[in-house]
Amino acid sequence: MDISIIVAVAKNGVIGRDNQLLWRLSEDLKLFKKRTTGHAIIMGRKTYDSIGKPLPNRVNIVISRSKDLKIEGCTVANSLQDAIEIAKNESDKDEVFIIGGEKIYNLAENLGTKLYLTKVYATLEGDAFFNLKPYENWTTVSSHSYKKDEKNEYDFEVLEMIRVF
Ligand SMILES: NC(=O)c1ccc[n+]([C@@H]2O[C@H](COP(=O)([O-])OP(=O)(O)OC[C@H]3O[C@@H](n4cnc5c(N)ncnc54)[C@H](OP(=O)(O)O)[C@@H]3O)[C@@H](O)[C@H]2O)c1
Repeated sequence: MDISIIVAVAKNGVIGRDNQLLWRLSEDLKLFKKRTTGHAIIMGRKTYDSIGKPLPNRVNIVISRSKDLKIEGCTVANSLQDAIEIAKNESDKDEVFIIGGEKIYNLAENLGTKLYLTKVYATLEGDAFFNLKPYENWTTVSSHSYKKDEKNEYDFEVLEMIRVF
């Protein structure tokens, strides 16, 4: 099963502030929806809180240290490894998406086989970062550039990368 990391990152590595995203990029959201719909998605409990509800038409898996956390419409796992096992059991697809945030991306650093990286061409203040170094051990298989417009706050580029083992 492909373990795909999907993330949008500012030029300075920032991915969020105060448990929120920092940009409105309608085209990137559409791509996120297209890629993840029908699949299992794995997220940290804080990212779940930030979204506020399970994302429709996806198997939602939330990682927490809490042993008794229950979230309607989601399966709670106590580790990334457990979350991936749940994805294998609950989804019939051969790709699972790790959708953040910082702590969960860190856990996924050595497990991810694919990376969907949106580079947001802005430098922003934040308190959550993407620490993986995509120029090390990853090769780009496609890239598309998008221009800022009324629905997309900044220029951005979407890269699809695979890990070179
Ligand atoms: N730009 C993007 O693409 C993107 C995507 C997603 C999120 N974000 C941003 O990222 C930020 C959130 O990131 P974050 O790092 O604060 O939170 P997070 O990674 O979403 O969730 C952290 C939580 O996950 C659980 N957790 C972490 N490590 C664990 C482990 N080893 N075992 C079991 N559970 C573990 C804990 O939950 P408990 O406290 O319940 O134990 C922890 O509080 C927000 O600003 C959000 O907007 C950005």
